[in-house]
Amino acid sequence: MSDKLPQDKKQYPPTGEPRETFEGHGFDDDRLQRVHAQLMREKEEPSESFSPTPLFLVFVFMILAFWAGVYMVWYGGEFSAFHYDETKSAVVAEDTGPREIDMMALGRRVYAQNCQVCHQASGDGQRGVYPPVARADWVQDNPERLIKVVLHGLEGRVEVNGNAYNNAMQAFGRLNDQQVAAVLTYIRTDPDFGNDSYPVREELVAEVRSEYDGRRNAWTQPELEDIHGPVTGEWSPPEGEEPEEEPDPAS
Ligand code: HEC
Repeated sequence: MSDKLPQDKKQYPPTGEPRETFEGHGFDDDRLQRVHAQLMREKEEPSESFSPTPLFLVFVFMILAFWAGVYMVWYGGEFSAFHYDETKSAVVAEDTGPREIDMMALGRRVYAQNCQVCHQASGDGQRGVYPPVARADWVQDNPERLIKVVLHGLEGRVEVNGNAYNNAMQAFGRLNDQQVAAVLTYIRTDPDFGNDSYPVREELVAEVRSEYDGRRNAWTQPELEDIHGPVTGEWSPPEGEEPEEEPDPAS
């Protein structure tokens, strides 16, 4: 229709002409359409009203609620606290018995917390003050002597690797048997300390502890030599008491 109109009438109302009405005019088809077009351009006024929730949404909601109920019955575990334990995996773990303690790791920790201040992280001690535990003849000698030193302390003149010391080491009786065994095993076998000896058993610590139960004073070198002989830096376990396997230096 619009392309039939002359160019200047394409825009309605055409420039310069008054707005058309039906008044005083006959119904001619072209004009009727133009008036209609004029009306149709106007949008309906928005008005406040109410419309009910669409029925299909009500159904969707009911289906969801039903599904939620079914889901809870299936997976809710009867809402019992026993059905939830975040520390457990769904697979029942095999019972492997008591966990084996890593003596070297324990020993390293006991050493760092109790012995390092004097004997140093390197184990070299301090010249003339604290004897070395690294590459030390005492450490590679009889373990019972070492257990006594740790449990009750050591004082007076001692000779370690041919160097004399005259100081005092406090008692570490508060460490338990396992900790004493671990720290001695650590200094005797860890490659960082350059000692190549045997591990110390927890039971041996328990034996020495009960044998000298109630002892308050620290040991002296002559006293220990009376029991265990002079320190040589060589020691092997008695017949039948060798450990089954060499300690694994990597662990
Ligand atoms: C307060 C400092 C100090 C601490 C802490 C200490 N020691 Fe000692 N330790 C000494 C002294 C000093 C001697 C020598 C004692 C003497 O001169 O009579 C010694 C001697 C020793 C000896 C025998 C000599 C040698 O060097 O081989 C061993 C083994 C030993 N200590 C192990 C330990 C262990 C294991 C610990 C930790 C549980 C420990 N010490 C904690 C100061 C200390």
